[in-house]
Amino acid sequence: MEKLEQLYEGKAKKVYRTDDENAYIVSYKDDATAFNGLKKGTISGKGVVNNRMSNYLMQKLEAEAGIPTHYIKELSERETLVKKVEIVPLEVIVRNIAAGSFSKRFGVAEGTPLLIPTIEFCYKSDELGDPMVNDYHIIACGWSTREELDTITDYTFRINDYLKGFFAERGVELVDFKIEFGRDAANGGKVILADEISPDTCRFWDAKTHEKLDKDRFRREMGGVEEAYEEMMRRVFGDNK
Ligand code: TMP
Ligand code: ASP
Repeated sequence: MEKLEQLYEGKAKKVYRTDDENAYIVSYKDDATAFNGLKKGTISGKGVVNNRMSNYLMQKLEAEAGIPTHYIKELSERETLVKKVEIVPLEVIVRNIAAGSFSKRFGVAEGTPLLIPTIEFCYKSDELGDPMVNDYHIIACGWSTREELDTITDYTFRINDYLKGFFAERGVELVDFKIEFGRDAANGGKVILADEISPDTCRFWDAKTHEKLDKDRFRREMGGVEEAYEEMMRRVFGDNK
């Protein structure tokens, strides 16, 4: 597989064209940002953790929860071959426990268990600061169709059910997470899980101590950021890193 020109550079990843017109290579960086790019930094080794963890979770979701994903093959510590997709311009957020912007917006203390898992959609736009939108906004603006949104919602709750159990077995509470979907170019635009699932995009709390094991340590300047990513790597892979 040959890596051709860079198509895109995001805050945490680069995307390259390949000699297969239906596949891209993503390359994970150690760069970290928060608050829509306002806070910038580096988390040493983060790219390796996010690449390996995301690939492992996507393979498990395919095999054990029947969720189609963009994952094709891990090429190296930081690089993965993925299906070419057109990203649906939505951040899909699921919450099991109140935290972050949910706690701020609704005045619900961080750590309060939610009575049902909730779903939120944000329109992906750096200029607008990713505003929260509802299904009418999404369909009215043409960001996805009703059928796609129904599929996305169904997959999202199934992903939450699977991941909650997966992490619970490893002593980790899945507080909330953000995922993105894409339209599979080689498969009639079928919606599949894309982007990443990592400590950048999930809140992970130790089930006993409630210690934060994710990017909130960077966002909130708590220290021990690299150690938290390494700890999550151990929780997911055990000693077979
Ligand atoms: P929030 O509480 O700040 O809205 O974040 C909810 C979840 O989404 C949390 O697990 C972090 C993740 N997230 C991202 O992956 N990217 C983002 O840009 C933001 C704001 C949150
Ligand atoms: N990565 C996002 C940004 O810089 C935000 C975050 O993860 O908190 O905008």
